Amino acid sequence: MESVKLGLAGFGTVGSGLAAILEENGDWIERRIGRKLEIRTAVVRDLNKARAVNPGPDTEFTTDMTRLTTDPEIDIVVECMGGLETAYDLIRTALEAGKHVVTANKHLLAERGPELFSIARKSGKGLYYEASCAGGIPIVETLKSSLAGDRVLEMLGILNGTANYILSEMTTKGMDFGTALALAQDLGYAEADPTFDIEGFDTAHKLCVLSRLAFGVDYPLDRLPIQGITSVTPLDIQFAREFGYRVKLLAHARSVEGRIEAGVHPALVPYTYLLARVGGNYNAVRVVGNAVGPVMLHGQGAGDKPTGSAVLADILDIAKHMNRPGCEEAYRPDNTGFGNADLPEADILPPEEARSKYYFRFTVADRPGVMAAIAKSMADHSISIAQAVQKTDEDSEGVPVVFISHESRAKDVTDCIEPSTPWTSRFCLASASEFFKVST
Ligand SMILES: NC(=O)c1ccc[n+]([C@@H]2O[C@H](COP(=O)([O-])OP(=O)(O)OC[C@H]3O[C@@H](n4cnc5c(N)ncnc54)[C@H](OP(=O)(O)O)[C@@H]3O)[C@@H](O)[C@H]2O)c1
Repeated sequence: MESVKLGLAGFGTVGSGLAAILEENGDWIERRIGRKLEIRTAVVRDLNKARAVNPGPDTEFTTDMTRLTTDPEIDIVVECMGGLETAYDLIRTALEAGKHVVTANKHLLAERGPELFSIARKSGKGLYYEASCAGGIPIVETLKSSLAGDRVLEMLGILNGTANYILSEMTTKGMDFGTALALAQDLGYAEADPTFDIEGFDTAHKLCVLSRLAFGVDYPLDRLPIQGITSVTPLDIQFAREFGYRVKLLAHARSVEGRIEAGVHPALVPYTYLLARVGGNYNAVRVVGNAVGPVMLHGQGAGDKPTGSAVLADILDIAKHMNRPGCEEAYRPDNTGFGNADLPEADILPPEEARSKYYFRFTVADRPGVMAAIAKSMADHSISIAQAVQKTDEDSEGVPVVFISHESRAKDVTDCIEPSTPWTSRFCLASASEFFKVST
């Protein structure tokens, strides 16, 4: 049986996961598409490294990246090495050499997706990226195809398993942030340098990619408000619980009268919501379409086989059209979900104009009049208080005071908690629709 030949750039977690699934599900895949998939070449950095999966004697391991783009036998280049420059050069060269490309690289797509989509359009080849967002969850294809006829009103996602694991451990076991992070690193969920996960950048990369599919516009990464989870404390998690919420790192985007409001922030999610129940290193995405209503997808957002499964889905989609008379010629992959058209830049709602409910925590001296002073300052900034709680602690110099506001403007909140205000420390959470985001 004729086979479709793959050239892999990278044979780490994702590449070896893909190879393992091909080994395990080979017969099933043949039944699905009527042909075999074969890894012809795998490019790695270190040829002496022990590999968890052996794809067989027919696979050549090499450090020579040009093999992927110059070998006429390779039909699909699979970029699963990560990074920016080398990955960009590889994908561009592969597309220009007439190869379809599948990538898991959300960082590259967020930064330089529009350039690559333009190259792919000119070459008439597929640039597929299901694995780039939320690992094994089929959110890219859902937005591109299943919900293509809906106008997306709002999208909320828990898109980083490491951050979600840390917040889950803090919630269920009362750990502080540092202890939960160290545990995530011990278990291999967090990198030695976890910055991208805990500072929200990885979530932001995915939000950029998904926003294009959901809203048909490009929201530039450098304009996206991004806040990580490093300032979330066990105290906030405890207060959140008392108010009936769970703290989650959310990617959020919605259409507000034709403008896009988007951002990444820790948020208070009502505990009755499915998103609040997404625990451990799982991911979830909630999309609200104007026709379908809310749709929620949940699953493993990372890991060798879940991510390999998403890569494989893209490969199968391409492979079933390939080298079939009359089929390949007619096959025009739609990479952007909008007929491969260049997407216009989003009309962005300035983040300071966004409105939401807020949670404020201040640490204050336990003296009469402090609550009233804070309440007055909030009123002066047009922030109306819905709930307030003060805890007393005779052994401590400062006591926590928490306010929950009605819907307020982000700029008023920022002005209210600016560093010149007299309270010793300040922390606040805000909501988009019924969800709360955090800002410090
Ligand atoms: N891990 C996940 O769960 C996951 C989920 C979704 C998306 N992704 C994305 O998938 C991509 C790969 O992630 P991963 O976790 O599989 O990474 P990884 O385990 O670190 O593997 C990277 C692979 O690429 C090779 N490589 C890296 N730079 C190279 C270069 N310049 N030249 C040749 N080979 C190079 C490495 O070679 P050596 O083996 O010789 O070092 C390794 O085989 C990234 O874009 C990541 O964001 C990962």
